[in-house]
Amino acid sequence: MAANWKMNKTIAETREFLRDFIPSVKDVVDVDMVIAPPFTALAAAGEAMRGTPVQLAAQDIFWEEKGAYTGEIAPAMLLDAGCRHVIVGHSERRQYFHEDDSVVNRKARAAQKAGLGVIFCVGESLDERDSGKTFDIVRRELEKGLEGIDAGNLVVAYEPIWAIGTGKTASPEQAQEVHAYVRDILRKRYGTAAEEIRILYGGSVTPENVNSLMACQDVNGGLVGGASLKPDSFAKIVCYKKEK
Ligand code: 13P
Repeated sequence: MAANWKMNKTIAETREFLRDFIPSVKDVVDVDMVIAPPFTALAAAGEAMRGTPVQLAAQDIFWEEKGAYTGEIAPAMLLDAGCRHVIVGHSERRQYFHEDDSVVNRKARAAQKAGLGVIFCVGESLDERDSGKTFDIVRRELEKGLEGIDAGNLVVAYEPIWAIGTGKTASPEQAQEVHAYVRDILRKRYGTAAEEIRILYGGSVTPENVNSLMACQDVNGGLVGGASLKPDSFAKIVCYKKEK
């Protein structure tokens, strides 16, 4: 279960969250927990998570190692702050910051080269879904974005844009349909290793709907925005009930 805090929380708020959250999940053994705070809070979060099962992720990365790239953050800097993963290709980066498939691919490659796990996001807009393009979009994003990317340390997140921050969750059937399609594409690229790649669902995941989403065969976790900002809410999501 991964928390994407987006542009939320100061350093003090991050510390306060972790002070409450970490003890509340101390008995969790079978769910990997990842939190992605904003850049300014990474180092403080990394310190607070040290020695705990909660892992740190960044929300973005730049592909160069160092130099004259004002405002950018290099892979080694993320490692230095304690990050083990990075989110790449989020629809908000694609939409507001004009990141295309080749930019997303360069970021993913740089992350893997540095030893960071990649949480690779794909997903269609409402227009694209309504015009029957969901599978084409998801296929293109995966085919172009995963060029040269290894299966090890790769997590894919399916986040339908229409479900992000809208309170409109994809139904378990809608999620499973696309997740199964993602798995098929991963099989073509990675063979049997595709079975081990975790495919997260993202888009208005809450403590109320997490159980039914996690009951889907190809839904292996969640990438949670709004509902990850409160410790008790994210802890409830982490402690979802497994339905058979
Ligand atoms: P919400 O959970 O707020 O819909 O955000 C989902 C998301 O974009 C996670 O990356």
